[in-house]
Amino acid sequence: MAQAVLSQVGLSSFQLCSSPVHAPSSSQNNLTCKVSFCESSTLHHSFLGERAALRALPAARTACLRRLDIQSRVATNPVNLEAATEPPINLYRPKEPYIARIVSVERIVGPKAPGETCHIVIDHGGNVPYWEGQSYGVIAPGENPKKPGQPNAVRLYSIASTRYGDSFDGKTASLCVRRAVYVDPETGKEDPAKKGVCSNFLCDAKPGDEVQISGPSGKVLLLPEDPKATHIMVATGTGIAPYRAYLRRMFMEDVPNYKFTGLSWLFLGVANTESLLYHDEFTEYLKRFPDNFRYDIALSREQKSRSGGKMYVQNKIEEYGSEIFELLDKGAHIYFCGLKGMMPGIQDSLKAIAEERGLKWEDKLAELKKNKQWHVEVY
Ligand code: FAD
Ligand code: A2P
Repeated sequence: MAQAVLSQVGLSSFQLCSSPVHAPSSSQNNLTCKVSFCESSTLHHSFLGERAALRALPAARTACLRRLDIQSRVATNPVNLEAATEPPINLYRPKEPYIARIVSVERIVGPKAPGETCHIVIDHGGNVPYWEGQSYGVIAPGENPKKPGQPNAVRLYSIASTRYGDSFDGKTASLCVRRAVYVDPETGKEDPAKKGVCSNFLCDAKPGDEVQISGPSGKVLLLPEDPKATHIMVATGTGIAPYRAYLRRMFMEDVPNYKFTGLSWLFLGVANTESLLYHDEFTEYLKRFPDNFRYDIALSREQKSRSGGKMYVQNKIEEYGSEIFELLDKGAHIYFCGLKGMMPGIQDSLKAIAEERGLKWEDKLAELKKNKQWHVEVY
């Protein structure tokens, strides 16, 4: 087992240092291994050199097993969550929301991540079922600052768990929420009067707190049923949420009518090593399902693109352009979730690859949309 954990550390180190243009200094090299471990139910991220990682192995091993016991697939319940032929849509409206309860709120990024992202588990008691790729609406308590006397407006959050939830019983939904803060460009200081209403409510919530939810909503990112399909998933930051759900359904859960034998290729763009989201789960899938899962990371503030700029997720797409086009030609689905701002860069990258292959990108895009291979949910 110690060997297995070590190879996981080695693999993530390789993944992070494999940029062809970025030559990390030896000190950087030592710091790119990541070991995460739990301590009394809180996840801490440690960024350790290889020797330190070795010393930390026993703790990492026991904790990872506790948190990520996916050596065998996990049984899911209730079976009738697979019965419907159409996804549930808007079971609860923002004006008459379902009152759910917070189970847990956990910071899932390291201390040096710019910004805070939390994993939030919500108990809906099985009353607000959803499918992988859908979103919930959340209505923060209090008055709408823009419309005095009225409740806060609903905000949408992609659901980061499968329909069975993180407790595999169909009673919870998990969200991956980045706290929205406003930083004054002149002083560089946060302005608490301008902090985002709903994300701060969620990230500050405590177990047992009430949370008003609406939905579920969204059909764009529903996971196609074909268990042999190829999925190319592109995320920036919290855009990872729907893919965490897909990947748990594919590689973690034992779902009788969904035995995944296709290929899933995840491209994740975050700021730095400490901002990586659900990295433990993904590296575990790499280790266990090397023929069915690929995982590429762009660290905008630690790696450089070929042109010397920030390494964004679209630069990774460009790097693997030919392979991606070949998969698309064979019917792969491609998904984009996260920052709206990534889409122009993504389109530029794909256009460049299309032209190299003698294709007109506009025609290829129209074909992908027509064949329902192109799925975009950006915000
Ligand atoms: P708001 O109160 O709406 O404020 C918005 C922004 O304005 C903030 O950055 C805030 O700092 C700034 N601001 C507020 N007041 C002022 C002011 N007076 N002057 C200047 N600036 C100000 N987000 C996630 O974190 N995770 C997800 O999985 C996710 N999924 C989404 C899925 C969909 C389909 C969509 C549409 C959005 C999703 N979002 C997600 C974004 C989310 O819905 C919210 O928009 C986000 O959390 C910000 O909401 P808020 O209430 O915290 O901020
Ligand atoms: P950066 O903020 O360095 O410019 P996170 O939530 O961890 O910050 O992840 C969001 C990631 O998306 C960051 O790496 C951020 O980079 C990156 N990003 C910001 N703008 C774009 C864009 N236009 N295209 C692609 N990635 C972007």
